[in-house]
Amino acid sequence: MNTVLRIEDLHKSFKIGFIPKGKKILNGISLEVHGGEIFGYLGPNGAGKTSTLKCVLGLIFPDKGDIEIFGQSNLSVRAKEKIGFLPENPYFYDHLSATEFLSFYSDLTLVKKENKQAQIERLLQLVGLKQAAGLQLRKFSRGMLQRIGLAQALINDPSLVFLDEPLGGLDPLGRKEMRDVIVRLKEEGKTVFLSSHILQDIEMICDRVAILVEGQIINQGTLQDLISEKVTVTEITVSGIQIEDCEGLGEHYSAQGGRILLKVYEEEKIANVLQLVQDKKGEIHALIPRTETLEDIFMGAVKQR
Ligand SMILES: Nc1ncnc2c1ncn2[C@@H]1O[C@H](COP(=O)(O)OP(=O)(O)O)[C@@H](O)[C@H]1O
Ligand SMILES: [Mg+2]
Repeated sequence: MNTVLRIEDLHKSFKIGFIPKGKKILNGISLEVHGGEIFGYLGPNGAGKTSTLKCVLGLIFPDKGDIEIFGQSNLSVRAKEKIGFLPENPYFYDHLSATEFLSFYSDLTLVKKENKQAQIERLLQLVGLKQAAGLQLRKFSRGMLQRIGLAQALINDPSLVFLDEPLGGLDPLGRKEMRDVIVRLKEEGKTVFLSSHILQDIEMICDRVAILVEGQIINQGTLQDLISEKVTVTEITVSGIQIEDCEGLGEHYSAQGGRILLKVYEEEKIANVLQLVQDKKGEIHALIPRTETLEDIFMGAVKQR
């Protein structure tokens, strides 16, 4: 497995008011991102996601810790040439058209003049904004702005792209479009580091995940590693029995149309429910085994704090 980003024992405090040592924001973060994957950096607001990214990009300096990008120091020019970055709340020159905007950023990088136009067209195509090439950014929707921001982050054809909350503030359609573009980047062979506080987005597109809570990584691995296949609860919807009959079988709730929803946590009790329904000549409408979700792990970790 080739490691494209390695962070080891990263610590960062900020001085606030008169607290002599400052407030600890990052508390010994270690993680590895592998080439070609979409890596999800998941954590609630204030967990330290943006601060980690700022350290990686050399925008702020950690108190302690090592950061390597493609085996080089994160502060080296050779590392910086290979990375792209979409910040959390990007600012755009809104009087520029999409093409002018990308042309401006292209001139700031080492893109060769003769390749510039083709590169801009390719990027507009990639982020689904070819039709909007001549449109001023002030006429863009929020989702379109996020995608032109992503095109900007790709202008130097980086191998590793950092996206800080790229799906934040987007409506469901905007999120789907952005997710699709991110997956396309992976298909092109790029590695994506994506921070988000939104579980579903991470679950849908990330290969591996680190969960950050209060400046510490409390879990890291593939989604399969983190989420066990074990059935944690079986939800059974029945009718024809009384709610009193359900005592001792699990949690029970009245559902629509006189049905009862039973949440059975002990596997051996499923048979008891089926027997009961048969005895009472009732009916089973659904029986759904639920496995643990990323949300369970996330909520469990946040609550323990
Ligand atoms: N420049 C700063 N000075 C002081 N505190 C900061 C600074 N930047 C971030 N923080 C604090 O660090 C914590 C983590 O912030 P941040 O990295 O932005 O979290 P996230 O991106 O996960 O929401 C927050 O409590 C935030 O208030
Ligand atoms: Mg943030």
